[in-house]
Amino acid sequence: MSNLQSNDHHVHNAQRTARHVEKLEWNDGLLLGHGPMDDEHREFVNVVMALRYSTVETALAALAAVEAHLISHFDLEHEWMDKTAFPDVYSKCHRDQHDEVLASVFQVHQLAAIGQIGLGGVHRLAQSLMDWFPGHADYMDSSLSAWINGKTHGGQAVVLRRNLVYEERIPDGDPKNDVHAKAA
Ligand SMILES: [Fe+2]
Ligand SMILES: [Fe+2]
Repeated sequence: MSNLQSNDHHVHNAQRTARHVEKLEWNDGLLLGHGPMDDEHREFVNVVMALRYSTVETALAALAAVEAHLISHFDLEHEWMDKTAFPDVYSKCHRDQHDEVLASVFQVHQLAAIGQIGLGGVHRLAQSLMDWFPGHADYMDSSLSAWINGKTHGGQAVVLRRNLVYEERIPDGDPKNDVHAKAA
């Protein structure tokens, strides 16, 4: 592997983000401080919960909605990474997670469309998206949000979250601010 450090980082992230989520609901704890990203995340919660509670009649439309949402959600985040020169070491892991998630959604959608996956399989996909999202948002998207806000406003983002203490996650090149370096 040409980028062993990034892959280790990715495995570490995958392990720390897998946690069963009973019900995914929008709340202030999910706010990251970059308005357009927060809007995407609100929509993610809506489409994934619609998938989780979909019926035989609504499952295919709900899958199509999740797929369309994720394509635009992830494209937007990649565009922000490119525009703000988000460091490669962070963007690679982040993009890899997006690609894996989208591949799973494509596969389930295709198989459901030809009747090879039933409602149980569709609901399992929804559950895995519910389990994945909080860790991804809290760790990867929050880094990107803080980076964008730092670039846009020339300073560090201050995110006010109910019951949460703001954590410094800005990969600004200063080792003392780099939680990734501390975790390594
Ligand atoms: Fe996101
Ligand atoms: Fe993301």
